Amino acid sequence: MKVLVTGGAGFIGANFVLRVRETRPDWEVTVLDALTYAGNRASLAPVEGQIEFVEGSIADADLVERLVAATDLVVHFAAESHNDNSLDNPWPFMESNIIGTYRLLEAVRKHGKRIHHISTDEVYGDLELDDPARFTESTPLNPSSPYSASKGAADLLVRAWIRSFRIQATLSNCSNNYGPRQHVEKFIPRQITGILDGVRPKLYGAGANVRDWIHVDDHNDAVIAIIERGRLGETYLIGADGERNNREIIALLLELMGKPADWFEHVNDRPGHDLRYAIDSSKLRAETGWAPRYQDIRAGLRQTIDWYAANEAWWRTTKAATEQVYARLGR
Ligand code: NAD
Ligand code: DAU
Repeated sequence: MKVLVTGGAGFIGANFVLRVRETRPDWEVTVLDALTYAGNRASLAPVEGQIEFVEGSIADADLVERLVAATDLVVHFAAESHNDNSLDNPWPFMESNIIGTYRLLEAVRKHGKRIHHISTDEVYGDLELDDPARFTESTPLNPSSPYSASKGAADLLVRAWIRSFRIQATLSNCSNNYGPRQHVEKFIPRQITGILDGVRPKLYGAGANVRDWIHVDDHNDAVIAIIERGRLGETYLIGADGERNNREIIALLLELMGKPADWFEHVNDRPGHDLRYAIDSSKLRAETGWAPRYQDIRAGLRQTIDWYAANEAWWRTTKAATEQVYARLGR
């Protein structure tokens, strides 16, 4: 099978490519990635020579059409992915996440190919901290930030192309990923690399916000399960029952990295900051048999810390510029 992976130089996309090379060696992989500030070719170094890499944008209709025509399946990860950036400058999110998805859908429609669209639990908005409810596939879309609104818009385009044009498509909405090769702008790698640099973790507001953490390999195994065993036209929620508030994550990182429990600082909160995400993944588990392998977040964080400690050359190149952006935003 020929597989076109958009955003394959980003965090989840690159880990997907590595996982596919390991577990599905007969899949022929082409990566299409614009190499924005978030893309890093070094993430694909272990599979250099085993995949094709095309530098370009999913918003480029001609390029997208040519690549889609030559593939069997598109796995669509490419997106602007950081909420704080979307609050600072929403435009790139509109172009990549909405127009880029539209270009892919039109090419898929024209050439009769299959697409799996990667999305986020953030399209459902947030839950109260004391609400026992979790998101399901039938939760109404109610996004809060320009990022999550652009992902919700893309999801609606995919659903409309399924209904009106009968394209072969599946969608998945996953909770917060962690693991190796995540950009240092994101919560967990920002704190790990900060601690390695002797800088205290930065907690937005009071830190009561809850995220439902999943290891990136578990997310990608679920995507492979949906590709192989999911029903066309369906949406699947991906989550590993990993709810933790941000204070708990910082406490775990400090403990695992040998720092005192109070060695962190509070910084300005994110405007419109979603309170809590929580995923009910029973549909995915029942229909595909998928289950997460990383049941213990402490072990997953240990592996992630070890990866950043051993791969400073990978993250050092982006650390200073990232912290300059945060300094401007007061976070
Ligand atoms: P990332 O920012 O690490 O990587 C995004 C990649 O997409 C980068 O390599 C970037 O260069 C590329 N890209 C951006 N715009 C592009 C364009 N116009 N054309 C081609 N390539 C482009 O993001 P990530 O965390 O790996 O997220 C990947 C996908 O998973 C996104 O769709 C995101 O919404 C979704 N998602 C992320 C999480 C999470 O916790 N990180 C959770 C659920 C869903
Ligand atoms: O839920 C899935 C989403 O998870 C994905 O769609 C997004 O692409 C991904 O970035 C992530 O979004 P979040 O906004 O939840 O992730 P982020 O890593 O930016 O922040 C996680 C939590 O940590 C959030 O409550 C904000 C907080 N935070 C973040 C940073 C960077 C801090 O307290 N301090 C920080 O320095």
